[in-house]
Amino acid sequence: MIQLKQISKTYASGGRLVHALKDIQLHVTKGEIFGIIGHSGAGKSTLIRTINLLERPSTGQVVVDGVDMTALSQSKLQEERRSIGMIFQHFNLLSSLTVRENIAFPLRLAKRPKDAVKRRVDELIGLVGLQEHADKFPAQLSGGQKQRVGIARALATDPKVLLCDEATSALDPQTTQSILSLLLEINRRLHITIVLITHEMQVIRSICDRVAVLDSGEIVETGLVADVFLKPQHRTTRDFVAQVSELPEIAQGSTDGMSGRTQVRITFIGEQTYEPVLYHTMKEKNVPFAILQGTISRLKDVPYGQLVVELHASGGEAERTIAALREQGLDVEVLKHG
Ligand SMILES: Nc1ncnc2c1ncn2[C@@H]1O[C@H](COP(=O)(O)OP(=O)(O)OP(=O)(O)O)[C@@H](O)[C@H]1O
Ligand SMILES: [Mg+2]
Repeated sequence: MIQLKQISKTYASGGRLVHALKDIQLHVTKGEIFGIIGHSGAGKSTLIRTINLLERPSTGQVVVDGVDMTALSQSKLQEERRSIGMIFQHFNLLSSLTVRENIAFPLRLAKRPKDAVKRRVDELIGLVGLQEHADKFPAQLSGGQKQRVGIARALATDPKVLLCDEATSALDPQTTQSILSLLLEINRRLHITIVLITHEMQVIRSICDRVAVLDSGEIVETGLVADVFLKPQHRTTRDFVAQVSELPEIAQGSTDGMSGRTQVRITFIGEQTYEPVLYHTMKEKNVPFAILQGTISRLKDVPYGQLVVELHASGGEAERTIAALREQGLDVEVLKHG
């Protein structure tokens, strides 16, 4: 649905060059929710704004639904932008217009007939749950309600893609969850492809299917959220995962008192999480074990579990037990052994 090909962006700032994006390659599939996470200044806003060419890349090509955006004339680009909605951290509503008028704004620009505008606006107000606030002004709304107006306005022209620039960063955790649920519903019911940027791993793990990690203008890791979350490869990714991890880092180093024992981290993904695989394998191998730490949770709709287990076995016996666990499809990582 969206292809970014060798995108780079350089700003000239105070006599020196800032390389905000460096050789970005990205492919967002139709119907998915794709997250981009990065620290402040990593280039997230610059990147998401290149998708609808609010920011023109210095080099590279942007293709949305088969259309090369970088090759369009200004008027064609305006037209094509109607199929790409966008919402913002600070909502960007027009303060002198009511909720209804804000939502109608892009339809007026597109010169839709008056009665069609009214029908569409009523529909959108229902979709985002603002029936009781339709004639209020932005200043009379909470942050969450303002973002609902932003979402309704972004959806007015029936876009294929919705871009979200830190859409929940100005909201409290509870309101954040309600806006994320609304985005998920929009993705599922209206089949709109969503690209969001954030600095919060919680946002990624609640609703995204895939994620890219942006660090100093480069994508350093990309993949399915479950894979990236449970097996982060890059240092920056590990920092983000630590934000939301329920498990404290296991102390590395000392193996005192571990003679005859082996500590492992076992990761379960999917329905396996609820199966007694661990118990059966240990029983079959006749290896006693103790669970030192554990968590079971969900990533969007994928259940997962992570356990730190001490096997009362070492050497060949431990190796055979670990091999048997891996045969059952579990991910087993040896932390330390006596
Ligand atoms: N118009 C501009 N002129 C000069 N430099 C810019 C401009 N816009 C962004 N930059 C620089 O490009 C880099 C990336 O900025 P960007 O706003 O994309 O980061 P971000 O990841 O969105 O950060 P934040 O999380 O703080 O919003 C930064 O070093 C920033 O200072
Ligand atoms: Mg930004």
